[in-house]
Amino acid sequence: MSDETDALELDAADPGHRDLFDVPPAQGGHYPEVAYFAGNSLGLRPKATRTELLEDLDAWATLGVEGHLDADRPWLPYHEFLTGPAARLVGAMPSETVVMNSLTVNLHLLMVSFYRPTRSRHRIVIEDSAFPSDSYAVRSQARFHGYDPEDAIIRLRPRPGEDALRTADVVEQLGGDVALVLLGGVNYLTGELMDISTITQAGHAAGAVVGWDLAHAAGNVPLKVHDWGVDFAAWCSYKYLNSGPGALAAAFVHERHLGGELPRFEGWWSTEAATRFEMTPECRPPATADAWQVSNPPIFSMSPVRTSLEIFDKVGIAVLRERSLRLTAYLEKLLADVVVGRPLHVITPSDPARRGAQLSVRVGSVKAGELARRLRFEYGVIADSREPDVLRLAPVPLYSTYHDCWRAATALAEAVPA
Ligand SMILES: Cc1ncc(COP(=O)(O)O)c(C=O)c1O
Repeated sequence: MSDETDALELDAADPGHRDLFDVPPAQGGHYPEVAYFAGNSLGLRPKATRTELLEDLDAWATLGVEGHLDADRPWLPYHEFLTGPAARLVGAMPSETVVMNSLTVNLHLLMVSFYRPTRSRHRIVIEDSAFPSDSYAVRSQARFHGYDPEDAIIRLRPRPGEDALRTADVVEQLGGDVALVLLGGVNYLTGELMDISTITQAGHAAGAVVGWDLAHAAGNVPLKVHDWGVDFAAWCSYKYLNSGPGALAAAFVHERHLGGELPRFEGWWSTEAATRFEMTPECRPPATADAWQVSNPPIFSMSPVRTSLEIFDKVGIAVLRERSLRLTAYLEKLLADVVVGRPLHVITPSDPARRGAQLSVRVGSVKAGELARRLRFEYGVIADSREPDVLRLAPVPLYSTYHDCWRAATALAEAVPA
């Protein structure tokens, strides 16, 4: 395995933006800070978040209700400050994008519009390894419309002996009874980056609506949801978007669906801003994704999202992706040495074009949760485990280092006997 000096040299030659983040202290091992690999679960806090959140809080103290219009960052249009940066991150137009609610709530609000089942076309396609919340959401939608989830939900499984889905196999499953395809852009468990463009086209050719859960894709890989013709998408902001636990999510609705007749659930923030305070009983939704908003936005939850998106705007997702490819390849190379003779197996696709920043390791006979605890307390390495046997490591290009990768690989080699 490459030694520590190599890792430190690589860091000197290819630094990220770790200085913009608070890196937690280690609770074990030889280094003061953790080697943080859980940014695919909860990203680290940008240093600016505290300052800017306090500024927004203080506007409330000094202005009371007048802060809606008079705060330096006025609350009435506050959500609009997030729209442009969020749209840029996923390749959408600002009019197609809105930051609001939590991810699963957004998936439901979007399915109200986009899951319109009929007897002959009511099935929903998801991955068998979809995040449970997505499974629950689609099952409950099917039930809500009077269908049996056991029949209505098609769960895509990799071929026997394989860990990731093949695009051609996904496409083959998209028959004439499919109403909705709802897949993860990057799978939470395997880290597989799906071919969003091809699958979206195939879904449309089959007559289905195609939506994407981009929780593990947004801020991780460059996306072009508009150009790819995606019908709708939603993503959270607490993973690669570093906006804090339970941070607000976002939603995308393709331009061709805006201003049309799609059913939506409405509230006072679904109506156009210009006439909102005329207090009429009829909603006048704008021809933008804002029409999917329901309630007035929580400013102190929007604040960390705004701060974080500014970092992405400054650094640029294309630049981040380049560093991500280098970091992940480095970790992959180190892990290739570690897995030899150990009950470990990387299940993430080895083709860099089919993955983001995450490498998932199946840990066989070792207990994944126990291993993650040992890595944390004995080595100061923060990885996460997913039941029953997967350890996930995400070298995040904004703040992870080559030295972190070296620490993770070395710790794994020590913690799992060969
Ligand atoms: C792919 C995916 N979908 C949905 C969720 C649930 O998100 P929320 O609790 O914000 O609704 C998560 C959470 O980690 C996730 O990873």
